[in-house]
Amino acid sequence: MRISVIGCGYLGAVHAAAMAELGHEVIGIDIDANKIANLAEGKPPFFEPGLPEILSSAIASGRLSFSTDMADAAGATVHFVAVGTPQKRGSSAADLRYVNAAFASLAPHLAAGDLVVGKSTVPVGTAARLAADLTAAGSGAMLAWNPEFLREGFAVKDTISPDRLVYGVPSGAEGERASALLNEIYASAVATGTPVVVTDYATSELVKVAANAFLATKISFINAMAEIAEVAGADVTQLADAIGYDNRIGRRFLNAGVGFGGGCLPKDIRAFTARAEELGRGESVAFLKEVDQINLRRRQRVVDLTVEALDGRANEKKVAVLGLAFKPYSDDVRDSPALEVAVQLRGLGARVVATDPQAIENSRRLHPQLEYEADALDALRDADVLVLVTEWPEFRELDPVAIGEIVRTRTIVDGRNCLDAAAWRAAGWTYRGLGRP
Ligand code: UDX
Repeated sequence: MRISVIGCGYLGAVHAAAMAELGHEVIGIDIDANKIANLAEGKPPFFEPGLPEILSSAIASGRLSFSTDMADAAGATVHFVAVGTPQKRGSSAADLRYVNAAFASLAPHLAAGDLVVGKSTVPVGTAARLAADLTAAGSGAMLAWNPEFLREGFAVKDTISPDRLVYGVPSGAEGERASALLNEIYASAVATGTPVVVTDYATSELVKVAANAFLATKISFINAMAEIAEVAGADVTQLADAIGYDNRIGRRFLNAGVGFGGGCLPKDIRAFTARAEELGRGESVAFLKEVDQINLRRRQRVVDLTVEALDGRANEKKVAVLGLAFKPYSDDVRDSPALEVAVQLRGLGARVVATDPQAIENSRRLHPQLEYEADALDALRDADVLVLVTEWPEFRELDPVAIGEIVRTRTIVDGRNCLDAAAWRAAGWTYRGLGRP
């Protein structure tokens, strides 16, 4: 199938490479000339395991190319729109300017029978509006909405072997044709029994935000329990294990810590709240504001614990911050709790030296005032306190005995509850977790 992918950010670059890997002929289009030049050389503009390999092999096979010219989308049968929907400045709502611009500039290049497929996360109602615009433009192209559920760090796998496919399509023969085209594109996943939910536009849009709202709520639920555990003298990690054995609850996404961040969960729950308010149903998701607040409080809690560990004075103390990315296996620092903790501690006068296996460059661009060390051992040398905020395996595996020799004070704040507290204490450390005694 000939495919165009409009927008080559995280979602689009992975989608374009994965579709070519599946055997389709793909053109990736983006307005950022620098990004396109790098992608054309097989270099993704972000860290994602497995992506450089499939990008290079797809380019070498001739099935994948890149362009900044929207006219190059002409001739493809299916056009995926994968541009970003960031949070609007000064508002909780999603900023749809990139989606609107992509549709407007794609429209003149569409032919009768083409299928435009929205992948961006949009407020419910957007697809219906865009479908009406497409019809009015008169090209004879139709629209489907096919939300993406990929996790950073597992993006290639999640795109090639998704756990479900959701098609939002119009009713009747048009919808059947759209579903058939999508089944053809995802033939390998469909053949292995991946569940396919064929539905209307509104449901498909809501599936995505509902899934992210649920995940965010699950994390904030356990973080709320951590807040209670802190005053009650209980251990939230054991609590999570115990409730997680109930299959109806499940243990995944019950890790209490510094909370969620990234390019999706925070902005998606805010955009969902804003859209629900527009629709006159703000009360239905008012709890998501609480979910957001609980999450943000955990960042402050890590900062407070660190200052407490420094006997109340952060000024001029050396704080080694382990982790900057919003989660391991990513270089993404968008709304990263780890980076925010580092910045706040710096603001309190601490000498913050931060380290991360992948996210230093992105962090430095945003916060040049912080000190960075690529080698974790350099970061923690002579530190007065360690603060672990991204659970990279290299940080989880630090040997408390060995590094006890190179820090100034053996104090660690485990912002991800990912260390063996007993082992650290046995090595003479003062260990502080979140929601743990
Ligand atoms: C998320 C959704 O999982 C994905 O389906 C959607 O398409 C995009 O948003 P992603 O942003 O890559 O994916 O991250 P995810 O793995 O969901 O983690 C989100 C945040 O929650 C991270 O900051 C992570 O550290 C945090 N988290 C996760 C917790 O604090 N505790 C947990 O138990 C799990």
